[in-house]
Amino acid sequence: MTLQSAQNQGAGRPSDSSKALYGGTQSRRITVHDVTAAKERGEKWPMLTAYDAMTASVFDEAGIPVILVGDSMGNCHLGYDTTVPVTMDEMTLLSAAVVRGTRRALVVGDLPFGSYQEGPVQALRNATRLVKEAGVGAVKLEGGERSLEQTGLIVESGIPVVSHLGLTPQSVNTMGYRVQGRGDEAAHRLLRDAKAAQDAGAFAVVLELVPAEVATEVTRSLHIPTIGIGAGAGTDAQVLVWTDMAGLTGGKVPRFTKQYADLRRSLGDAARSFAEDVAGGAFPAEEHTFH
Ligand code: KIV
Repeated sequence: MTLQSAQNQGAGRPSDSSKALYGGTQSRRITVHDVTAAKERGEKWPMLTAYDAMTASVFDEAGIPVILVGDSMGNCHLGYDTTVPVTMDEMTLLSAAVVRGTRRALVVGDLPFGSYQEGPVQALRNATRLVKEAGVGAVKLEGGERSLEQTGLIVESGIPVVSHLGLTPQSVNTMGYRVQGRGDEAAHRLLRDAKAAQDAGAFAVVLELVPAEVATEVTRSLHIPTIGIGAGAGTDAQVLVWTDMAGLTGGKVPRFTKQYADLRRSLGDAARSFAEDVAGGAFPAEEHTFH
């Protein structure tokens, strides 16, 4: 069995494997139309965050079809405590790096806190900046009904939008980090928000930290894909913050994250080995030396 055919075995894999978002053969950049078609085929697909060109190139080469330059860069890359301080300048700089590091992935840039809440004109101005200066293929913003006008104007202007519902980390100061959508009323509100985002033209919806049953219901009710994080197995796609996924994040990682590597330990070991070699005179050796 070839790697290609192995990757396309199992539930949720499309019958025409050449078109698959993950494991497909096309080498051009993924578009929002490919993402829409994946939902129609019932394909489940992976998404990761990235904040720099080199990491993004690794994920691109691994076949990750959609890469999010998330405002999680605040916690995971820039050393802030939350996503709230992230600025448009920071988002633009790092999004441009991720675009430069990728050839195939659709790159989605986050609109950071304060870059769209004033209204649709501000939202469009900043979304346009991410497209023109960084080269992203789509933008993401938090909120369903509360961000409808922003979503509508950005989409009308030709920029694809992902809506982010459930736990919206930019509202940490009012919302905290709690599971959202629990109870009938909250579940109905989430479904309303998701449908409103879809009606406003969003091409996908992130569902963060919501009960699996609610996320599954939202997924069944929408014709656009849902992308879950802490939302169970019933969503169309799954996104993880790359530093959590690869075990680089220090301290406690959320329960919904699965760690696929232990980069923090590997990097620490590498740094200690280097330091010991330098201290002991083993590096540089003759083969690293010019004469
Ligand atoms: O900023 C981010 O990384 C995100 C994901 C958690 C979806 O919004």
